[in-house]
Amino acid sequence: MPCRSCEVTDLKTQERFTPLARFPLHVSRDVVQARQSVARELRDRGVSNIRVTRFSTAVSEIARNVIVHGGGGEFSVYLDPAAGYLMTVSSDKGRGIADIPQALTDGFTTAGGLGRGLGGAKRLADVFEIISSADGGTTIKMGIKL
Ligand SMILES: Nc1ncnc2c1ncn2[C@@H]1O[C@H](COP(=O)(O)OP(=O)(O)O)[C@@H](O)[C@H]1O
Ligand SMILES: [Mg+2]
Repeated sequence: MPCRSCEVTDLKTQERFTPLARFPLHVSRDVVQARQSVARELRDRGVSNIRVTRFSTAVSEIARNVIVHGGGGEFSVYLDPAAGYLMTVSSDKGRGIADIPQALTDGFTTAGGLGRGLGGAKRLADVFEIISSADGGTTIKMGIKL
């Protein structure tokens, strides 16, 4: 069940937002749920189908990485009304990304994947930020302009 009452804190500004939805990310079905939840929120706000598809594809890739590379974590969706963005935060407490520019390069993978998820997601989102360290895990914030 999504937790609708817990707040998320913006990593940079420390502003607090109440999520529209919040999910654990542990199994494939959680990725589908994250993708569908974002798509529904965007459609409800009149975002065009092509942009909904692009952004929810980015969400799928990043959510899948949380499971495959980060050992599981969580995902939340919230509105940044001041800026007019729908934002998502995916986080895990895994081993972190040692070299972010390298990880963003198409074709780079440490797990026998296609290596196009991270770079692809960055191109598909309007806002894309990575915070990652070996002891703190990985947090990726993505946004789409409404
Ligand atoms: N949440 C994460 N935790 C640790 N490493 C990650 C995470 N997400 C991505 N990476 C690293 O970045 C690489 C590139 O990711 P991606 O482009 O999605 O390719 P793929 O998932 O096919 O390996 C991964 O192989 C992995 O080394
Ligand atoms: Mg991937």
